[in-house]
Amino acid sequence: MEKTMPAVVVRETEDRGGWNALELARVARPVPGPGEVLVQVEACSVNRADLLQRRGLYPPPPGAPDIPGLDLAGYVVERGSADVAWNEGDRVFGVVAGGGYGRYCAVPAEHLLPIPENLSFVEAAAAAEVFIVAHLNLFLEGGMVSGETLLLHGGGSGVGTAAVQLARAKGVQVAATCGEDWKVERCRDLGADLALNYKTGDFAEAVRTWTEGLGVDVILDWIGAPYLERHVDLLAPRGRLIFIGLMGGHQASFSLAPVLTKRLRLLGSVLRSRSREEKAKIIASFQKEVLPMLARGRVKPVVDRIFPITEAEAAHRYLKDGKHFGKIVLQWNE
Ligand SMILES: NC(=O)c1ccc[n+]([C@@H]2O[C@H](COP(=O)([O-])OP(=O)(O)OC[C@H]3O[C@@H](n4cnc5c(N)ncnc54)[C@H](OP(=O)(O)O)[C@@H]3O)[C@@H](O)[C@H]2O)c1
Repeated sequence: MEKTMPAVVVRETEDRGGWNALELARVARPVPGPGEVLVQVEACSVNRADLLQRRGLYPPPPGAPDIPGLDLAGYVVERGSADVAWNEGDRVFGVVAGGGYGRYCAVPAEHLLPIPENLSFVEAAAAAEVFIVAHLNLFLEGGMVSGETLLLHGGGSGVGTAAVQLARAKGVQVAATCGEDWKVERCRDLGADLALNYKTGDFAEAVRTWTEGLGVDVILDWIGAPYLERHVDLLAPRGRLIFIGLMGGHQASFSLAPVLTKRLRLLGSVLRSRSREEKAKIIASFQKEVLPMLARGRVKPVVDRIFPITEAEAAHRYLKDGKHFGKIVLQWNE
């Protein structure tokens, strides 16, 4: 096998307002270490965090490749040691701390999942990061159970489309907001019990009415500061506010009184920088709880648009414009 490979990399540029360039370059091919396998990547998805990384705002954790890309789907082509549970030719998908935009990626064997027969590489890449993040935060961090209520914004986002479906599949009632009416409609089709346009209506009032004044049990939030006070107010007693991003800002001033009196829990959660062991436990839980639902088509990756890997720049611009519903996927040549 060649010692180099093609990969989309970030090239620092000074004249684009912090938006460094993406470039398809030749870089060293990773070599799988003991307990790892080398995956030939057929597809990876574009995640919001890739836009931050490209601007130098979300560097990879220590030890991770500086090639962008937080998920992948492809074939096992090499085993780093004899004790790994995969064989050459196996179809696998999963999350990585970086490197998904490379043609090959070395991945700890226990972080990979088998691609169910009903899913293509594109669909598996579209599912990996967002379904794992939704499972992790709704159920492992948030402890959601059937009969509870969930609010999230951006029901048409990658994470949103996964979270709405997973929550519904587990008997959780879901309220989702979107910034456009056509996304609201699609959210309803996906199973949201309440879907509304946050730009034209008061989401807090609508959600309060929807819960008959009780408030919601969990809010999965990546907006942050601008909604904080309303979110704390909207949570039911023992409610959980789970921050997985801060798209709207991170500086906020609010009363802690309801946190105390309603016994709320405010949680912050990132997947990328967790330890190898912690990720392995999350993947094992996902394999048990969610993979069978993907295999049966009970929940489905929502693919908005596929770009060839050579058009990663266009894919990033498309995500930034926010006209997508679901996932944007980068695909290597067939
Ligand atoms: N912590 C973790 O481990 C982790 C892992 C994965 C993702 N994330 C985070 O999760 C978030 C979603 O990721 P993604 O890749 O799925 O993103 P995405 O597809 O780009 O979607 C972002 C969504 O946010 C919504 N939004 C933006 N501003 C809003 C506002 N003021 N009010 C309500 N909704 C608003 C948009 O809704 P409209 O387009 O309808 O306006 C859009 O659907 C990102 O912040 C990402 O960084 C965190």
